[in-house]
Amino acid sequence: MNNNLTIALSKGRIFKETLPLLKHAGIEPVDDLDTTRKLILDTNRDDVKLVIIRASDVPTYVQYGAADLGIAGKDVLMEHGGEGIYEPLDLNIARCKLMTAGFKNAEPIKGRLRVATKFVNCARHFFAEKGQQVEVIKLYGSMELAPIVGLADCIVDVVDTGNTLRANGLEPKEHIADISSRLIVNRASMKMKHERVKQFIDLMAEAVEK
Ligand code: ATP
Ligand code: PRP
Repeated sequence: MNNNLTIALSKGRIFKETLPLLKHAGIEPVDDLDTTRKLILDTNRDDVKLVIIRASDVPTYVQYGAADLGIAGKDVLMEHGGEGIYEPLDLNIARCKLMTAGFKNAEPIKGRLRVATKFVNCARHFFAEKGQQVEVIKLYGSMELAPIVGLADCIVDVVDTGNTLRANGLEPKEHIADISSRLIVNRASMKMKHERVKQFIDLMAEAVEK
């Protein structure tokens, strides 16, 4: 096993909010993410690369060791299940809540509730715990549309300000989990590259505390 570190993360809010933490750990991308088409970014450190992928793919890359480390929302991690992954640090960024949401003053549903979401495992688990029979409909985005067009009775999605729900005539209903992004580590990398990985985790922890 080489001694390089590969860190998987997604574009958008996670990348933006992770940059200052990486900087504290002495890591700065050389490429500009806004303009480059590269999927593997070089950094100021020859031995550290950033792999830029879809948010929901980050746990999979880390699970299989395609990346040593990753940064992913707790929603995505709960949905993945966490196999082959350590989760040593809460980075306290990209904070939001995983919630159910539906129409204001919705009539009680007769029969099985139809739930549209990209978080199918989280939704199944949440409603099973409550002993509620549901039909879970998998979507890949724009969940808010599903109740409006009659595809589902409610949704499970992340909520921050609630603006997206409000703009679509919906409201948050039940709280499922508080969400923030976590630093995750491949189990083999944690053992085989222990010193390097531990040093990186410690620096990131320091940055979070700052
Ligand atoms: P994918 O591309 O895999 O569908 P995505 O579009 O959900 O993922 P982002 O919108 O960048 O990716 O969200 C990344 C993470 O940020 C989510 O997994 C969640 O933990 C958090 N997040 C999502 N929406 C918000 C929000 N409005 N406010 C704060 N944090 C959020
Ligand atoms: C996320 C999420 C919600 C919205 C919630 O979407 O899917 O739609 O944020 O935030 P709010 O409560 O502050 O409105 P995002 O803005 O990331 O767009 P996306 O659908 O491209 O992920």
